Amino acid sequence: MSRIIILAIIGCLSIIPIGWTQQFGYVSPIGPANWSTLNPDWAICGNGNRQSPINIPTESSSYWPQLSLEIFNGDSLLSGTLMNNEHSVEYAIDNTVTDINRPYLRATYESASFQDGDYVLQQFHFHWGSVDSRGSENQFNGMSSVAEVHFVCRNTLFNSSQAGNEANEFLVLGVLLRVCENSDFYPVFGPNNSFLDQIMSDPDEVPVSLRLSGIYNCGGPCTDTNSYYTFQGSFTTPPCSEAVAWWVAEDMLCISQAQLDMLRSQNVTSAGPRLTDNYRPIQELNQRTILTNTNAATTTLMNMSLSLFLLLLALLFV
Ligand SMILES: *[C@@H]1O[C@H](CO)[C@@H](O)[C@H](O)[C@H]1NC(C)=O
Ligand SMILES: *[C@@H]1O[C@H](CO)[C@@H](O)[C@H](O)[C@H]1NC(C)=O
Ligand SMILES: *[C@@H]1O[C@H](CO)[C@@H](O)[C@H](O)[C@H]1NC(C)=O
Ligand SMILES: *[C@@H]1O[C@H](CO)[C@@H](O)[C@H](O)[C@H]1NC(C)=O
Ligand SMILES: [Zn+2]
Repeated sequence: MSRIIILAIIGCLSIIPIGWTQQFGYVSPIGPANWSTLNPDWAICGNGNRQSPINIPTESSSYWPQLSLEIFNGDSLLSGTLMNNEHSVEYAIDNTVTDINRPYLRATYESASFQDGDYVLQQFHFHWGSVDSRGSENQFNGMSSVAEVHFVCRNTLFNSSQAGNEANEFLVLGVLLRVCENSDFYPVFGPNNSFLDQIMSDPDEVPVSLRLSGIYNCGGPCTDTNSYYTFQGSFTTPPCSEAVAWWVAEDMLCISQAQLDMLRSQNVTSAGPRLTDNYRPIQELNQRTILTNTNAATTTLMNMSLSLFLLLLALLFV
């Protein structure tokens, strides 16, 4: 009896001083529009100026051919856990896997305003929509795709005991997904998607061993010939820390219709509601620069050089 009372008191003490929820979601009353007021530590979700996701206007991005994102240790066999964490379906590498045995991404900008660095993979997770017209978080020229995967990596200059507020503490590689007959995600979703079938609601999880190269083997960060858009941003879930160097691939990866359907039928808890449309609406770009090494921007630049050339020519003849 007294133990119950003590527990009740401890319970109140721990609830009252904190007094703020750690719960957020994608539907009212804990949807994205309210994240900034659910917890004082999440205020930046509402008043930040480098929030994610964004709409990427491809034509007005700055062409920067030196950009590259290379992957190392992509063939390491990883032990990890696939889970429904109430906000997403996530594959997290086990803490016992040391950095030296993990894949890492090398971000090269060769620019004064962005810092080059190596970022070690921590986890990857998915955002998706309930219908085909939406689901990705980032957009290209106002267009969404059905889903997006985020590969979350931590800068080797930082460690997990740090706050997560430095601008370049994390790198997130975002890749939009489209529906194809063959999926890029069989190693993580399992034979006949059986792993996905085992994690239909929080706190379901299943141990999964995989190699990143088995998933992302389509010439993504494996090669520096790939096309990216990169900019400074935030986590797209609370606490929305503006600590992320974003790299969004121009090319999409493939998810099968069966896998997309199974994501759409995930539940937040076994009692529901459905876990779907778990994407945050796009945020203001504000004064941010978007760098890209894509051909689209090359064309724009070439057009600009051509105009400049014609202008110079015109001046010569004046
Ligand atoms: C925000 O909270 C208010 C009050 O609880 C609620 O009426 C509203 O629907 C919520 N909005 C979202 C987007 O969750
Ligand atoms: C994490 O980084 C901080 C600051 O550089 C350092 O003081 C601390 O010892 C590091 N912790 C671990 C576990 O490496
Ligand atoms: C694959 O999963 C579907 C749906 O759960 C099931 O109907 C089918 O029998 C499974 N196929 C195999 C080969 O296990
Ligand atoms: C998910 O929740 C819905 C109600 O929102 C329910 O009909 C369905 O059976 C649940 N699915 C699972 C796998 O628990
Ligand atoms: Zn995400």
